[in-house]
Amino acid sequence: MRDVTTAGGDSTIDSLRTTVRARYGAVATRVAESGSTAGASCCGPASGSSGCCGSSTESWDPITANLYDEGQAAGVPAEALLASLGCGNPTALADLQPGEVVLDLGSGGGIDVLLSAKRVGPTGKAYGLDMTDEMLALANENKARAGATNVEFLRGHIESIPLPSNTVDVIISNCVVNLSGDKRAVLAESFRVLKPGGRFAVSDVVVRGAVPAEVQRNMELWVGCVAGALEEQEFIGLLREVGFEGVSIEPTRIYKAEDAAAFLSGSGLDIAQFAADIDGRFMGAFVRATKPGAAGAPRVATAARALETLGTPAVDGAAACCGPDCCS
Ligand SMILES: C[S@@+](CC[C@H](N)C(=O)[O-])C[C@H]1O[C@@H](n2cnc3c(N)ncnc32)[C@H](O)[C@@H]1O
Repeated sequence: MRDVTTAGGDSTIDSLRTTVRARYGAVATRVAESGSTAGASCCGPASGSSGCCGSSTESWDPITANLYDEGQAAGVPAEALLASLGCGNPTALADLQPGEVVLDLGSGGGIDVLLSAKRVGPTGKAYGLDMTDEMLALANENKARAGATNVEFLRGHIESIPLPSNTVDVIISNCVVNLSGDKRAVLAESFRVLKPGGRFAVSDVVVRGAVPAEVQRNMELWVGCVAGALEEQEFIGLLREVGFEGVSIEPTRIYKAEDAAAFLSGSGLDIAQFAADIDGRFMGAFVRATKPGAAGAPRVATAARALETLGTPAVDGAAACCGPDCCS
């Protein structure tokens, strides 16, 4: 299996970022115009063999469908829910507490930031970080619709987080780490900004075990997320290498061969040939890790105030894509 830890040099990473920014910009524009991600999901199935970022509007998508229960959905603007492009529900699993500071990596239309803001309450703060201007505009519209006052969307890259060290209680993310061309940097930056005792609580697509290169390539046609998904043990190893402890990966949705078959039916690929290699090997998973050190009681507004005092500089540059080989 090829190395997806880094996509290859800076120029490759820049080119991935340019591509994915264009792609998600188009997705956000479509969502803003139509009010939904239908036909726009970038972590969803491809339409035929045309590439990763054009899902079928009619099909049920086993990756992105039904991630949020009605209770949660009732508390956020419908537009934010409809703009969801994730593959999990990190706020349901992250055990957020009042007063905590949360950062969502690749916040898209803002669904998980708004859900986090409700959990941490007025004494806490929820940041969303995204590199795509159109997504940030969409997220700010959803913030206004929600009337949220403890939310801030930052422009920048998840490989170079525009926040000071030791200032965040919980990092969440929903189907974005797999899109990065430099995953080690994402994890190292997450470690840096977390306070001692801070939690990494991220949903992502993860590969279980070795998958033949041909299967990986074909799966890229199905799901953009899979293109750069880390293998489970590789993910665990990287988290430990950058300093995390208490690392675990818990499957939340395991994708079956027939899920792929349904979406690849028009692609001309012989899914039956790969069924055994696909079945159960790709999963939506919840990835947990902790930064060593004492976890203090949530310091209520102090952390958020510290961040305001220090400022939250916007960072320009670029980010990754739906994998090196797709979205082009
Ligand atoms: C699959 S969508 C997920 C959006 C959101 N988390 C959700 O669940 O709806 C990926 C988002 O991550 C952003 N993104 C991808 N790579 C990024 C990077 N390297 N730095 C910052 N944002 C990135 C994209 O602009 C896009 O909004």
